[in-house]
Amino acid sequence: MKRFMLLIVAAVASLVAVADELPKTADIKCGPWVTAVGENEMTIVWTSTSRCMGWVEVAPDDGSSFYAVERPKFYEDFLGRHIVSEVHHIRLTNLKPGTVYRYRLFQQCIDDRGPSPIPLGRVTASNVYTRKPFAVRTFDKSKEEISFTMINDIHGRDDVMDTHTKGIPEAKPDFVVFNGDMASFMGSIADIEKDFMTRASKNFSSDFPIVYVRGNHEARGPGYSEFMNLFPSSTGTPSYSFVHGPAAFVVVDCGEDKPDSDIEYGGTAAYDAYREQIAEWLKKATSTEEFKSAPVKIALMHIPFEKSAGWWGNNELKRLLLPVLNEAGIDVMLSGHNHAYSFREKGSIDGNEFPILVNSNNDRVEVKVTKSAIKLVVKNLEGATIHEHTIKVE
Ligand SMILES: [Fe+2]
Repeated sequence: MKRFMLLIVAAVASLVAVADELPKTADIKCGPWVTAVGENEMTIVWTSTSRCMGWVEVAPDDGSSFYAVERPKFYEDFLGRHIVSEVHHIRLTNLKPGTVYRYRLFQQCIDDRGPSPIPLGRVTASNVYTRKPFAVRTFDKSKEEISFTMINDIHGRDDVMDTHTKGIPEAKPDFVVFNGDMASFMGSIADIEKDFMTRASKNFSSDFPIVYVRGNHEARGPGYSEFMNLFPSSTGTPSYSFVHGPAAFVVVDCGEDKPDSDIEYGGTAAYDAYREQIAEWLKKATSTEEFKSAPVKIALMHIPFEKSAGWWGNNELKRLLLPVLNEAGIDVMLSGHNHAYSFREKGSIDGNEFPILVNSNNDRVEVKVTKSAIKLVVKNLEGATIHEHTIKVE
């Protein structure tokens, strides 16, 4: 009995010791990336190697050393406290349109298990000494020409991701669209990092914003609820709108493609009701003065509308959303999902009053927009142009 008690005491002591061994320092694990950009705001996201408090210092792009003066600090606060977490999303506000902001990430481990949080170890930060600080530009409604690059249906293929995004810093698009199914399923934050965000971070995402269009595969897996945590939007949902240059954009979430009762969803799907909510949101988003007055209107939606009777999800999207997008005067819709290229001319799929480009899973689309035209250039993995379309805007 005495020996048994000693064993219990030893086991409890070892558990306490393990609990006491909180990491003292945190480093950047993945990121940063930039979402929810507007003319006056943006959100910086990254993950850390351990739970910590994160903040961002911001400097103008004026050629000064980052160390020249004390820089303003931005934290993520909740109910009056700076958040301690492995995932950080710091909202920068009061920014100016079309302006480059340099920024630096900071991390401080905190032991907040007791009533009084205790800072641990040293503060770590992104390097602004031997490399250029991260820098990103806000959107600007007065810009006459804008550009963006779109990829989709990567399904965790790192080589495809690398090929299509390594040239982003030279091409300098205004933003990069992830049009869904970047991973095959959302297992965990670590899976999402491994599947595409580690590569995106290495290649471009600290300096070029991501516009993320959720695909049906991002709705799968236990980590699906991390989507908004990792890719915040201006609405707090995967459906949102924004304006940049002459173009107003609606990013429309699709839900899944099969009936809610399909065995693939194990009884968890409730997309019929969800699509109805999206249709209501879309009516409001496309009725604002800002949207209506934009010379160019672009819809980004992972699942395209089909001509013939498609799967349940496609049919429902067509029934609920196509009339709204027609009414909104959309000039072009950009989609993925089918893993094959197609270009559906205006009127070719029963009542679509705008063309739809469906990008394959292996190509990228480079887009340039002025108030009078949308130029779409589809490039393959070798960088060769394989399709081109110019859509005149009336
Ligand atoms: Fe898909």
